[in-house]
Formats: sequence, C-alpha cells, structure tokens
Amino acid sequence: MRVAGSITELRQLRRDLQGSIGFVPTMGALHAGHLSLVEAARECDHVVVSIFVNPSQFAATEDLSKYPRDLPRDLDMLRTAGVDLVFTPTPEMMYPPGYQTWVDVEHVSQGLEGQRRPGHFRGVATVVAGLFNLVQPDFAYFGQKDAQQVAVIKQMARDLKFPLEIIVIPTMRESGGLAMSSRNVYLSPDERRAAGVISWALRAISTAWDDGEREPARLRELGLAVLVTEPSGQVEYLSFADPDTLRERQTASDDPCLVSLTVRFGATRLLDNMLLPASLNTREGLTSTLGVSPSG
Ligand code: PAF
Repeated sequence: MRVAGSITELRQLRRDLQGSIGFVPTMGALHAGHLSLVEAARECDHVVVSIFVNPSQFAATEDLSKYPRDLPRDLDMLRTAGVDLVFTPTPEMMYPPGYQTWVDVEHVSQGLEGQRRPGHFRGVATVVAGLFNLVQPDFAYFGQKDAQQVAVIKQMARDLKFPLEIIVIPTMRESGGLAMSSRNVYLSPDERRAAGVISWALRAISTAWDDGEREPARLRELGLAVLVTEPSGQVEYLSFADPDTLRERQTASDDPCLVSLTVRFGATRLLDNMLLPASLNTREGLTSTLGVSPSG
C-alpha cells in the first residue's frame, strides 16, 4: 500500500495505476462500515482511499477539533483490507491560501441535515469534487447512513459531468442495532445502549409499511411512539421523503420512501435511515433509488 501525503505524490502514484479505480473518501476514524466500502471497491482493479477531516463541512459550533483521529491505526486497517493507495492531504493542501471556489448543490442540500447544518453540504460537495478530480475514479463508494450526502454527491457528479458511478453500500450496525459511525465513540455505555431505540423505531415503521400503512403522519406517530420510550434521546426530526428529491412526503403513496431521523444523545447527534420497502436496503436498491440517476 502506498501513502500519498501531498497532491504531487498522489498524482504521480495515480498515474502508475492502470485499470479501473474504486475510490472510498473518508474522514478517518475508520470502522467496519468504512471497511465494507473498501471491500465493495475491491471489485475494481485498484482501491484508493482518502483520509481527510474536511474543515469546510463543520460549522464553527461543531466538533472539528474533537473529531476522532488515529492515522496509524487507520493505515493499518487499510493495509490489511488490501487498499492500493491512501491519500492523506492537509487542510492547507485542499484549501491553500486564496482558495475561493465552492460547489453548492441547490435543492437536495436544503432540507434535513442541510437545514440543521447550514453550509455542511457545500463543504462536502466541494471537497468531494476536488477529490474526484485528483483521484479520477471510475466508481466511488458511499455509505447509506449519510443518505442525503449520497443524494447531494450524485447530483453534483451528474451536474459537473464526472465520468464515474456512485455506489451505495448498506449501513453496518452494531449488535444492538446502532448504525456504525465514527461519532459513536463519543457515546457513554448507557447512551450507546439507549441509542438502539433508533433502529427499533425504524423497524416498527417498516413493519407498519409491510402491513399496508402509507400515511406519512401515521408512520411518523408510530416511530415517535417507539422513540419516546428512551427519554434520554432528543428527536431532532423524523422525515418521510422522496428518495430522489428528498422532498418531504405529504400524502400516502406506494412509491419508495426514505425514512430518516436524527436523535441527540447527550452532545452526540446520531443519524439513521432506511428505504421503504425494506427490500430496497441492498447495494442495488440503494444505488438505484437514492438520489438522481447518473444520466438524469
Ligand atoms: O462521509 C464522510 O466521511 C465525508 O462527508 C466525506 C464524504 C469523506 C467528505 O468529507
């Protein structure tokens, strides 16, 4: 495995890679969820991973300086996982003095996380566009857990005509059902146990869907009824949206639906989601249903 610590090195090492390139952008603090993306990317001739805690996607009030970092451990994990090339730029390399170009994906960035974290998706779309230009992958792999991020990046890749395919890999879960996330390290043992309620709520909603319930207001009531059984969790939102536009669904429909929610445990915001019907939560279902299709 080669490690490129600068843009010049990355460009040189990338030039030596012939054949298809699978790319997994990360912010490090890797866990089994990231490794499932790497594993999927191994279908390509070469796997490139970036590790970069991107300052522009954190608001001033957020946890940029506290974000977990452990580069030696991350590199060991990636070496064992069979990665060919890791790119570890510094903020100064990605945003040199005088940097002034930003990628703003309009509508799909606005609701849900975009509404609660103004500027977040502008930071994500900008850094991912820069990384796509540097790495020039054929396939890029993202996790389902950040479903709105998938929709934003798919829209950005289509609008900016990146010649690549976005692949979406299902969320990996801990044994209690909690979606894996680098931020789970912030949870106390009690909070971690309590946070299992998020996946129970999703399961209850999915069961109701399977039983024929389609009314978003009714599905929301059912989900909230489960979430309130864990009073230490503060629900920020529970959304039922169209999975391509992320527009909130107002009326009953048999079309696939993205259920997503954010619940705060102590200082930690936890995100989770699932597609309805539940049979769509596979690589194929997620890749074709979440966000716009590549050709429009
Ligand atoms: O999902 C993440 O880890 C980040 O948002 C990403 C895509 C690496 C961009 O910084």
